Amino acid sequence: MTESVPTWIALDQPTLRQRLQQLGIAPDVLQGHWYADAPDDAAGLAAILEWHDDGIQLRATERELGNPIRVDFLHGKTGFRSQRFQHEMIVKAVTGRSRDPLSVLDCTAGLGRDGFLLAAAGFSVTLVERHPAIACLLLDGLKRAAEDWDAASVCARIRTHLGSAHDYLAQLEPAAWPDVICVDPMFPERGKTALVKKEMRLFRAVVGDDEDAEALLALALQRARKRVVVKRPRKAEFIGGRKPGHQLEGTSSRFDVYVV
Ligand SMILES: C[S@@+](CC[C@H](N)C(=O)[O-])C[C@H]1O[C@@H](n2cnc3c(N)ncnc32)[C@H](O)[C@@H]1O
Repeated sequence: MTESVPTWIALDQPTLRQRLQQLGIAPDVLQGHWYADAPDDAAGLAAILEWHDDGIQLRATERELGNPIRVDFLHGKTGFRSQRFQHEMIVKAVTGRSRDPLSVLDCTAGLGRDGFLLAAAGFSVTLVERHPAIACLLLDGLKRAAEDWDAASVCARIRTHLGSAHDYLAQLEPAAWPDVICVDPMFPERGKTALVKKEMRLFRAVVGDDEDAEALLALALQRARKRVVVKRPRKAEFIGGRKPGHQLEGTSSRFDVYVV
């Protein structure tokens, strides 16, 4: 009989455990996911979290799910984009007409791409991520970036919190409410699987959909001092049918801005 395994597992390597300790992540966070070896025949297993090439990566068990995911703020797209952050829509949407140094809470940190751009633009950013495997990737990438001479000052503006953004917002004292709150939830994919961008397939298989986005937006609107920025696919409906004050449109994404 096939062993019942979760959608993703963490390989029980001393190197991975040591890295989690460096990152301040308790091993219990991955409880129920630790496996000594990848099971040979595990229906439903999509990905393996592991230490590889001096970093944490999430590797797909099937070729169709694409390449391993790892967070790298120094090279590739994010590295380049963070040097020309003024052109980024997320930065424009968050800034609005403000000239003050803003505090930003990114409720849906994911792989931290938007959050890193915002920190590169000079905002102090708190990243909240609830998925344990994604949080491991994020903190690992941030740690490597913090060791880089150029990126260290950007990382110094970033705080992280592993857990639910709803819970985090609910317990914040008014004095700590952020100026701007960002929300970028995963939504059910409408198109055929084949149309889902390859780099998103593995992420989607592991994270699934964020069904509670409407409740998160409702609370965010009560906690933001200036505005809430919601990132959506360009043609998608408004979250909870709430019409934003204005929108910024890009080629594939749209930013709905709610001024509070
Ligand atoms: C579409 S991704 C965000 C991508 C991100 N904007 C980036 O630039 O990499 C959504 C992420 O938000 C996380 N998430 C969704 N709802 C959350 C919540 N209420 N609390 C914490 N994390 C949440 C999901 O686990 C997922 O990793």
